This record gives sequence, structure tokens and C-alpha cells, in this order.
Amino acid sequence: MVKVLFVCLGNICRSPTAEGTFRKLLAESDLSHGIEVDSAGTHAYHIDKPPDLRAQQAAARRGIDISYLRGRRATEQDIDEFDYVLAMDRENYHNLVHIKGARDNIRMFLEFSSTFDEDEVPDPYYGGSGGFERVLDMIEDACRGLLKDIKARHLQYKNHP
Ligand code: 4NP
Repeated sequence: MVKVLFVCLGNICRSPTAEGTFRKLLAESDLSHGIEVDSAGTHAYHIDKPPDLRAQQAAARRGIDISYLRGRRATEQDIDEFDYVLAMDRENYHNLVHIKGARDNIRMFLEFSSTFDEDEVPDPYYGGSGGFERVLDMIEDACRGLLKDIKARHLQYKNHP
């Protein structure tokens, strides 16, 4: 089982969007059984809260349901257990490193993007709804790159490269 954790600040905008997007990609690729997906925030503001309504609506427009997800905080155990702990921005990255020290599995999510030059998924919380569309574009692209990386490193596909 390969374990992927998406991490942002509040766990109500970017990381649940990434979780839902990656789950959909895995379902479409018939890989849901082999890869575990979760998301968490580095702050405690929104524990047990559903995703921001704007994030829910933007995801729903692309056929992704994230309404059932609930906020939780990233833990030391997460960093021990997940193969990929993927930070949306540098602040999240540093918050994760602060929990456990630098680890190879703590990475910037946009390392996996092939079409965006940015290294951070911008925080859409205080912006307009257009921010959520751009966040989704970035997340969809990086999710495709992430799946390629997982296939190359963890899954053996002799007939389905
Ligand atoms: P997220 O967005 O980290 O993508 O979930 C935010 C959500 C809430 C806050 C900041 C960012 N906040 O300050 O409450």
C-alpha cells in the first residue's frame, strides 16, 4: 500500500481539493485499491469542519465530491506512516519539518507539476472564486505527475506503462 497525504494550512481548501482530485484520478485509473489518500492541515483552526463551500463548489464543477471530508491536523505519526507528505506551500512545508525534522517523504506538491513553474499552490482562502479554479488547475496537473511517480517507484506495470 502506498500512502499519500496532502497538507495545507487549514485542511479546508487546497489539501481536501487535492485529496478529492487524486481519489478521482485513481478511480479512473483503477488504482484506488493500492493507494491510500488522506489530507491534513498544519493548523487547528478547522478541525472536524467540512471543506470551504467555495472549494466544494469548484471541485463539484469538475465532478469531484469533497463535501464528506473533514478537517484534521497533521501529526508526527503521519510523517512516520505516509510515503508522500505533500505540502501545498513553503509555510506548510516548514510547519511539517518543525513537527519531525526534515524527511525525504516531506515534499512540495508542485514538484510533481509539469506545466506550472510555481512551487506553491496559492492560498485561495482570502481571494475570489477564480483562485479556486487556478488551484484546481494546478492540483490536477500535479496529481497526474504524482501518479506517474508512484507508478514508476512503487507499482510494477509491465503492460500498462
Ligand atoms: P487551506 O486554506 O490551507 O488551503 O485550507 C486556508 C483555510 C483557512 C485559513 C487559511 C487558509 N484560515 O486562516 O482560517
